[in-house]
Amino acid sequence: MTGAEKGWTLRPQAPSIGTVLGPIGQWADGAAREFVFGAGLNAFRMLVVRKGSRVFGYVNLCPHYSLPLNVRADEFLSRDGARIMCRRHLAIFTVEDGMCIDGACIGAALDCVPLQIDPEGQVVIG
Ligand code: FES
Repeated sequence: MTGAEKGWTLRPQAPSIGTVLGPIGQWADGAAREFVFGAGLNAFRMLVVRKGSRVFGYVNLCPHYSLPLNVRADEFLSRDGARIMCRRHLAIFTVEDGMCIDGACIGAALDCVPLQIDPEGQVVIG
């Protein structure tokens, strides 16, 4: 793990490695959901996107202006559901690695929160 990959752990109210987010079945294939840890302006917000049998997690902060990607609850994806889209200025990111491929911050990336699926099908941070 590189320094950049574990940057999320340094944020206030970041969840611990091993935190269980729930069963993968809570997401429809191609759906996204936000999780919030803590409260207030420094609450740790992350989004999780399911693609098939895989899940991808990112800190919910756009690298353009460090604003949350969404305006409405759980609204993180492009219309076709294939990409993550910031609703502020419409930057587009790949689901698989969080790289911005179109819009205001091309070449920048979302801060990845690594996820695993345990043998019971629970999505776990770490
Ligand atoms: S804050 Fe996300 S594109 Fe500007």
